[in-house]
Amino acid sequence: MERYLAGRRAIITGGIRGIGLGIARRIAERGAEVIVWDLNVTSPEADGDEFKPALVQRVDVSSAKEVQAAFDAVVEQAGPVDILVNNAGINGPVTPSWEYPVETWEKVIGINLNGVFHCCRAAIPHMRARGYGRIINVASIAGKEGVQFISAYSAAKGGVIAFTKAVAKELAQDGILINCVAPAMVETALLSQMTEEHIRASKAKLPMGRLLKVDEVASMVSWIAGPECSFTTGFVFDLTGGRATY
Ligand SMILES: NC(=O)c1ccc[n+]([C@@H]2O[C@H](COP(=O)([O-])OP(=O)(O)OC[C@H]3O[C@@H](n4cnc5c(N)ncnc54)[C@H](O)[C@@H]3O)[C@@H](O)[C@H]2O)c1
Repeated sequence: MERYLAGRRAIITGGIRGIGLGIARRIAERGAEVIVWDLNVTSPEADGDEFKPALVQRVDVSSAKEVQAAFDAVVEQAGPVDILVNNAGINGPVTPSWEYPVETWEKVIGINLNGVFHCCRAAIPHMRARGYGRIINVASIAGKEGVQFISAYSAAKGGVIAFTKAVAKELAQDGILINCVAPAMVETALLSQMTEEHIRASKAKLPMGRLLKVDEVASMVSWIAGPECSFTTGFVFDLTGGRATY
């Protein structure tokens, strides 16, 4: 595999399993040193994997304090950070918005939206000082369309998309590109938070007639993190097998 990320260092949040693990593995295969931040520092998926990150840190991305401390520790112990992939996220329950528990709403927004802000807030001054950075935020098709019964998730992911666009303009002359990917449904542990009916309905919406694969997300993210992606910022890259109309 072409090692176009050689000499780069990347932080992947939520990288101990699922999509994040796939992204972490691919970015490492492309030559970067990979640091994983996750609430869980071990997982059966990661245990069975040949790929081992350079460093795994227990970080709750919903805590601005923890994120800043972890970022400072990475820079001190490992060195400069070139790439940040904000992937950590939860789905939350599938339930009508008027019955959505307030604490759960706050938790979903706290991890999926505030978490992205906290990680960007920690990384951007460091990247600006070096005049280089690549930030990729894992949003969702739900953030573009608004999906019924996952209103907190849709709102958080829509927020991630708007945040990415705003920050991209702030950083456009600083050598830092910030983009999103908007995946449709991928078979990961996240689906355990959903109902069978919700999963069936989501699959039915995909014109290609199959679910997205982790490897397909990993390929796109590693390309966006690499040197061939140089004039695109504030963009939402599609991963929906033809579902998205914009
Ligand atoms: N699976 C899908 O169908 C799908 C579709 C579109 C977008 N996404 C997004 O992709 C990302 C990864 O999802 P996945 O399917 O791999 O889910 P997953 O549940 O398999 O993995 C998510 C990872 O994030 C970690 N995490 C959760 N809360 C955290 C926190 N507060 N701080 C740090 N780490 C935390 C978990 O421990 C886990 O390792 C999420 O942002 C999700 O919203 C997933």
